[in-house]
Amino acid sequence: MSVTPIHPADLSDVARLIAKQNANPETQCLYSGERAEEIEAALRKQTAPCYVVVREGRTLIGAMGCEVEEERGYLQGPFVDGADFDAVADALWSALQMQIASLTGWEAFLHVRNERGAAFYLRQGFRRGQTAQIYVLPASALQPIEGEPARRFTPECAAGVRALHELAFADSPDSIEPFMNGDDETRCLFVYVDKGRCVGYVAASVNDNPREGSIDLLAVDASVRNRGYGRRLLLTAAHWLIRERGMPQVGLTVRDMRADARGLYQRSGFRLLHTGVGYAREFPTNKRR
Ligand SMILES: CC(C)(COP(=O)(O)OP(=O)(O)OC[C@H]1O[C@@H](n2cnc3c(N)ncnc32)[C@H](O)[C@@H]1OP(=O)(O)O)[C@@H](O)C(=O)NCCC(=O)NCCS
Repeated sequence: MSVTPIHPADLSDVARLIAKQNANPETQCLYSGERAEEIEAALRKQTAPCYVVVREGRTLIGAMGCEVEEERGYLQGPFVDGADFDAVADALWSALQMQIASLTGWEAFLHVRNERGAAFYLRQGFRRGQTAQIYVLPASALQPIEGEPARRFTPECAAGVRALHELAFADSPDSIEPFMNGDDETRCLFVYVDKGRCVGYVAASVNDNPREGSIDLLAVDASVRNRGYGRRLLLTAAHWLIRERGMPQVGLTVRDMRADARGLYQRSGFRLLHTGVGYAREFPTNKRR
């Protein structure tokens, strides 16, 4: 079996393979796209997409890829069609690891029903992490913001936003910094300020695969929770994404440990789309945290 780095001529076949595999929860790898044309466009945008492929004759039977962000590799796949899954997946994984050096760890996020993918990652020394729910708000279900909308972030709120973020997301590697320097086209941060104190924020961004807006971070100071700030922040961000940025829908991911936020999302028009499970493998010698 010969595994090769992806070539521009492979892109549309790879996009079709991913879309086909992701249409079935039992083979679905979350965050890797669902529509072939969007997957292909996202691959074409990258100067050197980190993907490896396997062909049997002229037919593409397998692909696996990785996006590197802050020294962590976020894996897509293994996507294998109609062949010996274990053998093809192992060959793809060996080839992919050789393409990338000096990471602090790998992560993958599979549909909870993708059991063959789960078995693959566990066999490769990954540990099973948290379950997470992906919610989506279609543009047609956007609700009005009752009361004062949140306002755009301005630099005098930076210290307050950082302090709130540290408290609310102490356990998470997600950084708020990129949103404070957002370009207002693809990233935006909204805040509530009460008597000069930042009491809540929401961070939102625009994605192209899938083409949707996303709510990336949302937090309200513990002293003012259950007063509707969370809902207004969420809806302010959803209005920006749908009305100003023209997104057809807004997605967000809730980890199990943040289960209390689910009621708020459901009552704000979001519906559950997928349940996923994270898998991670750290490199002890190269650890960041
Ligand atoms: C999740 C979070 C942002 C919610 O903020 P919040 O300001 O309390 O949100 P709201 O006040 O709009 O809604 C919270 C609840 O209070 C209720 N509520 C809202 N206004 C109310 C009012 N005037 N009187 C009484 N209850 C009210 C809402 O019905 C809601 O109930 P529900 O959760 O059963 O739907 C906040 O708890 C938080 O920062 N948590 C830590 C970070 C986190 O988990 N973020 C989400 C990541 S996925």
